[in-house]
Amino acid sequence: MKTLIICESVHHGNTKKIADAMAAELNADIKKPGEVDLGKIGEYDLIGFGSGIYMGKLHKNLLKLADNLPEAGKKSFIFSTAGGDNESMKNHKALKDKLASKGFKLIDEFTCRGFDTFGPLVLVGGLNKGKPDEKDLGSAREFAARLKGSK
Ligand SMILES: Cc1cc2nc3c(=O)[nH]c(=O)nc-3n(C[C@H](O)[C@H](O)[C@H](O)COP(=O)(O)O)c2cc1C
Repeated sequence: MKTLIICESVHHGNTKKIADAMAAELNADIKKPGEVDLGKIGEYDLIGFGSGIYMGKLHKNLLKLADNLPEAGKKSFIFSTAGGDNESMKNHKALKDKLASKGFKLIDEFTCRGFDTFGPLVLVGGLNKGKPDEKDLGSAREFAARLKGSK
């Protein structure tokens, strides 16, 4: 299953760690949104989209890319790291809606906490120090392994 992972990870590289763990499991190509050749989307069977959560949403470059995607009807997954609670994946909604409008089939979603020093948090040394940690990376690998069996 040829897989592309598109990841924007601008705060501490937290989501890139998750993307790398998933990519190793799936033998996937990894690109930033700005590096994606939209003409080559058709070559992939499965496409993953991931970033940190910024002001309640995935990164704007990911959302912008989704607007420009061809109506490829591909299998997809979404992943994120967040400073706060995203357990219900509520912060994935904007991207989820865009992917659905392009006929992408969402197979699964993943989220975990990531080190966060946004705004005043820096004064207390940040939230979620050391996250994502080995346990999170293990969960990301397990998540990716399950995707391999997806229809
Ligand atoms: C500008 C900014 C806004 C953020 N907004 C949120 C937010 O709305 N909700 C949340 O849970 N975390 C928020 N965070 C924390 C990040 O989601 C968290 O640190 C994440 O792991 C960053 O991922 P990255 O290192 O891959 O960029 C914010 C961080 C920054 C820098």
